[in-house]
Amino acid sequence: MIDKRGAYVTIDGPEGTGKTTQVMLLGEKTGSQIVREPGGTVIGSHIRSILLSVDNIGLLNPRTELLLFMADRSELSDVIEKTINHPAGWRSVISDRSAVSTVAYQQYGREIGFTTDMIMRLAAFAMNGLRPDLRIVLDVPVETTRERIGARALGVDRFESEDDGFHQRVRDGYLQFAKEMGAVVIDASGTKDEVTAQLYSVCGEMLIEGIDRD
Ligand code: TYD
Repeated sequence: MIDKRGAYVTIDGPEGTGKTTQVMLLGEKTGSQIVREPGGTVIGSHIRSILLSVDNIGLLNPRTELLLFMADRSELSDVIEKTINHPAGWRSVISDRSAVSTVAYQQYGREIGFTTDMIMRLAAFAMNGLRPDLRIVLDVPVETTRERIGARALGVDRFESEDDGFHQRVRDGYLQFAKEMGAVVIDASGTKDEVTAQLYSVCGEMLIEGIDRD
């Protein structure tokens, strides 16, 4: 019998792609465990509130911001590793965001002068060498991002309150990452059902069947 482990798939994208809903639907359809960055662990939820609070606008320097995302990721990697390799029964993991968002938001959005290679190396350290089996980017134009943020019933967070220039750089950063490093880009401006179907066709089988161990 072939020994298997769970697949680890990451889904990233700008605000307003409907990503969280899609992750939930895909998780239900494939029986996968869903995790999220930032805030997928106890320590991570503390880190998340520092990162997102509008009270910290102007207080958090961009290097601290980047390192806090890495610290959050480091906590989460243990959970992912245990889930996909669980001896009594593996499960696949879908992560709502990953280091690809650090490239888009911190490297491109904040323009902090880090290269993609440096970010991916830091992420590899934070993740203790754990790498996704597949990276997916959901793409929408910046106008959609603006509309969705504007329609929020609850207050906007520290990232959502950035201007259109920032959000345009974030979107460009995702597309550039996909070109350079390899990620599947899915156009998320279609209907919810269309996006769900595309996501499923790209990674449904991998999530359900798992990955053969070498
Ligand atoms: P969240 O409410 O989880 O956003 P969403 O529902 O859109 O995923 O907030 C996470 C925010 O943090 C989001 O604006 C993107 C940002 N972010 C970064 O700037 N860098 C990162 O590495 C990650 C993982 C997220």
